[in-house]
Amino acid sequence: MRIVRDPSQVTALSREWRFRDTTTLAFVPTMGNLHEGHLALVRHARERGGRVLVSIFVNPLQFERPDDLELYPRTLEEDIRKLAAAGVDALFCPEAAAMYPSGSLIPARVVVSGVSEALEGEYRPGHFDGVATVVAKLFNLVQPDLAVFGEKDFQQLLVIRAMVEALDFPVVIDAVPTVRESDGLALSSRNGRLSPHDRQRAPELYRCLRDAAEACLLEPDQWPGIFPEVLARMEHRLEKAGFRTDYLRIRRARDLGEPVAGDHDLIIVVAAWLGGVRLIDNLRLRHGKFAGAG
Ligand code: PAF
Repeated sequence: MRIVRDPSQVTALSREWRFRDTTTLAFVPTMGNLHEGHLALVRHARERGGRVLVSIFVNPLQFERPDDLELYPRTLEEDIRKLAAAGVDALFCPEAAAMYPSGSLIPARVVVSGVSEALEGEYRPGHFDGVATVVAKLFNLVQPDLAVFGEKDFQQLLVIRAMVEALDFPVVIDAVPTVRESDGLALSSRNGRLSPHDRQRAPELYRCLRDAAEACLLEPDQWPGIFPEVLARMEHRLEKAGFRTDYLRIRRARDLGEPVAGDHDLIIVVAAWLGGVRLIDNLRLRHGKFAGAG
């Protein structure tokens, strides 16, 4: 596996593969501390054929709290071993100074309006500007044919899709379902920061999503009227289990808008604190089945 730290070298490598070798290039952007969820993205990229390039960059621009950026786990040596074993062709792991030579005074940012504004956008102001900006920079540097994102960060996925469509990035965006522990907890780099006690309680988040979905699916004719009552019940359960909920909502899956009568493809989204750790998760809710993001 090639390891590239210099932004200009990653562009040169991408051009060599795509133009000289005429292979396609699939890209998996990450912030490292890799787990099975990331490796599922890598496997998906592998299965699409061609070369696979992964980036590891803890992007300061998308952290609105300095303590969160500082505590973000960095495990580069171990990540390199995992990526090499997964058959990745190259890793791009730049320094922050190489990505942002003018520091936090970055002269241009990408702002995606609409889908980035509610939910995470409300609770983490500026977060999606940081994500969209770094992903745009990475796309320009790596010039991939395809990029792979996880459905666990469902709103992020929609923000990236909106950016690609609005700015005509020539990149296909593929989404991969959430990978879960056997007790249902969605894999996340933040799970390692849960205390042993909180780790035992954490699966209640996914159980509440499932129970909310089941309750809604019992009465599909009552959508969206029954949603507030179902969600209030689940929020109460989460509070009893020790969570502090930022939001628990049912939204349209295509744009995260408020559902109206006749909307059938929805998603239940949640963000909640357990101890000092903020967990997010989601479950797709379609008439008649659990499906999709999950
Ligand atoms: O999902 C992530 O790990 C990050 O938000 C991403 C897409 C790599 C951008 O920094």
